[in-house]
Amino acid sequence: MADLSGILAKYPRSAECLLDILHEIQDAEPGNYLSEGALTAVAEHVRIPLSRVLSTASFYSMFSLKPRGRHIIRVCESPPCLLAGGERLIAYLKEKLGVEVGGTSEDGSFTLETTACLGACSGAPAVMIDEKVHEGVTEERLGRIIDELRGKDAI
Ligand code: FES
Repeated sequence: MADLSGILAKYPRSAECLLDILHEIQDAEPGNYLSEGALTAVAEHVRIPLSRVLSTASFYSMFSLKPRGRHIIRVCESPPCLLAGGERLIAYLKEKLGVEVGGTSEDGSFTLETTACLGACSGAPAVMIDEKVHEGVTEERLGRIIDELRGKDAI
């Protein structure tokens, strides 16, 4: 579980820091999500109603209110990437991970999501895995990255 008090202590009690705080807490949480307890603690820290924290966390697609896998794979589903093979990549990942979009693999390693443009259109199709955007992605490359991450996690 994320060290909530340690993270909150780094930020002033201001709603201006809300997005940064939510990002840091979600990144520190093994389940890659924002729990109800975390949202409540953030609301108290920045002194705004919990409903506002909740609506912010629900508005942005990069935040999740339910536990996800250790790694998040986001396939760009904007037209340039879909036309350049994004649709094939989504089908491949569904098959490889045994999940639908929004689902988490049975071993808890990967959550498959789609996203709007990642700003890497010239390298379509683009896929973001955790914090890194990969361009010109193929099924073969995705398979290698997934196997590598599984290998690292097993160590
Ligand atoms: S359309 Fe996919 S990165 Fe821009």
